[in-house]
Amino acid sequence: MEQAYTAAVVTVSDKGSRGEREDTAGPAVAHMLRGAGFEVTHTAIVPDEVLAIGAELTRCSDELRVQLIVTTGGTGFTKRDVTPEATLAVVERVTPGIPEAMRAESFKITPNGILSRAVAGIRGDSLIVNLPGSLKAARECLNAVLPALGHAVKMLLADSVEH
Ligand code: MTE
Repeated sequence: MEQAYTAAVVTVSDKGSRGEREDTAGPAVAHMLRGAGFEVTHTAIVPDEVLAIGAELTRCSDELRVQLIVTTGGTGFTKRDVTPEATLAVVERVTPGIPEAMRAESFKITPNGILSRAVAGIRGDSLIVNLPGSLKAARECLNAVLPALGHAVKMLLADSVEH
């Protein structure tokens, strides 16, 4: 990557947002993104609420102008897992190849890999990518797609007048 694209990491966790559980996946994701050349300019922890997640994603995209927004958590089957719905509510175009690759690689590691409902999509000049919440799963899923994310952001910005 010739230049440092910006990235944000949004951890979605009820307990994390209340300070009742240390966030390990968020910092690990940020570390991996820095290792791939991204500049992590923003991190946040939000509860498992569609409105709170959507508000944070739109803030990262519209106000902070972050180019890659990665969420971790809330992609499973429990009633509180609503990160995919919150993401789909704010993106303009979905990018199914990203979660397809994550689930394909994850399924090679564990059958439970298909239980993440993660989605990804584009809002304005930002790419939003969901990851599962556990440290192990977040790392494995990000590893599967990270090599393509620099090029993804580059294409998004190619016809942007503000860039
Ligand atoms: N993907 C990988 N690569 N490795 C894992 O261990 N765990 C799965 C799945 N994806 C897993 C994985 C499990 S057990 C769940 S419940 C879902 O991710 C959703 O996780 P989340 O609710 O924390 O987002």
